Amino acid sequence: MILVTGGAGFIGSNFVLDWLALHDEPVLNLDKLTYAGNLESLSSIAKDPRHIFIHGDIGNPTLVAQLLAEHRPRAILNFAAESHVDRSIHGPADFIQTNIVGTFNLLESVRAYLNGLDSEGKAAFRFLHVSTDEVYGSLQPGEPPFAETRRYEPNSPYSASKASSDHLVRAYHHTYGLPVLTTNCSNNYGPYHFPEKLIPLCILNALSGKSLPIYGDGQQVRDWLYVKDHCSALRRVLEAGQPGENYNVGGWNEKPNLEVVHTLCHILDALRPRPDGASYTSQITYVTDRPGHDRRYAIDASKLERELGWTPAETFETGIRKTVQWYLDHGDWVSNVSSGAYRQWLDQNYAAR
Ligand code: NAD
Ligand code: TYD
Repeated sequence: MILVTGGAGFIGSNFVLDWLALHDEPVLNLDKLTYAGNLESLSSIAKDPRHIFIHGDIGNPTLVAQLLAEHRPRAILNFAAESHVDRSIHGPADFIQTNIVGTFNLLESVRAYLNGLDSEGKAAFRFLHVSTDEVYGSLQPGEPPFAETRRYEPNSPYSASKASSDHLVRAYHHTYGLPVLTTNCSNNYGPYHFPEKLIPLCILNALSGKSLPIYGDGQQVRDWLYVKDHCSALRRVLEAGQPGENYNVGGWNEKPNLEVVHTLCHILDALRPRPDGASYTSQITYVTDRPGHDRRYAIDASKLERELGWTPAETFETGIRKTVQWYLDHGDWVSNVSSGAYRQWLDQNYAAR
């Protein structure tokens, strides 16, 4: 079996669902169920014996050691993290604890676990650390996209905590020979995305008649990848990646935020027109920028294509249409995640902007 951490979050739940649709190999899913963890995203496999859910913290050494000893996974995919930049600005402590200390604990537990495996088991084992392009910092207009050789220059508490965990993963390979793989992916979007992030927030705000908050001038550029393409890249890296290597994952889809929000509005105008006939773009408002806001991310994913033959299946146009349709079709999921704690976050992040 494989052990997935953070498998009740956005990308982790998509990964688990796709994995079980494609493989018979069971998944042990360790998740703390923070505000971002949602078992409802996994309701379609609630009775599937191939999915074992464990409610717990990657930072708990006793629990992780016990899970490894009992279930003897052949690989770990580490998705568990605090993942939202704005929350890291309001309160970085949880980011340090989960992203750095939690990853450290997993690495230590794996180091002990591997000592108990025979040479064949050791050679076959993989620790795949799921990371982000944000560790590379911000690009100037016209600069080439981030390659794996780019210097780490994280700018937010979130990206600094992810960069720190990447360094620990790297060090455990060099020092102890742990068979690690690290992926650095661009911004994901798709089903089960928690509506604190730009794309789901704007879809839901548009439909409920609220404003669509654009930070600063809206000309910050992100490189968007449909979540299921990220999951297919992770499966490929797990299968064929070279231990000790980093792989950038991206879809060559650089877009300014304002263009993304305009695209969402136009799709909604067609699929769910406003009763007054006006475009959802009329709900766009400009709000105070995020402190230290990175101007541009762009990923050069050519190593993954060249060495492992991976390419994304979706363009931004096909992926974003599927995503809007998914939110229109999943009102129950949406109303369950838009409850009390979520509203408190909206007040905290937007009231003073
Ligand atoms: P998410 O916030 O939606 O989900 C994180 C999950 O981790 C949640 O289910 C949460 O309950 C769980 N978790 C948090 N702390 C934990 C702990 N201490 N122990 C166990 N579980 C814990 O995040 P996501 O968007 O799905 O991102 C998953 C991973 O991918 C993260 O490592 C993130 O840095 C990385 N990543 C995300 C993106 C993106 O665009 N979302 C892009 C590139 C990389
Ligand atoms: P986000 O989805 O939070 O991802 P990240 O910060 O990890 O890239 O934000 C994507 C972009 O959208 C980022 O440039 C910040 C911007 N943004 C807004 O303009 N308004 C918002 O309300 C949010 C949440 C983000």
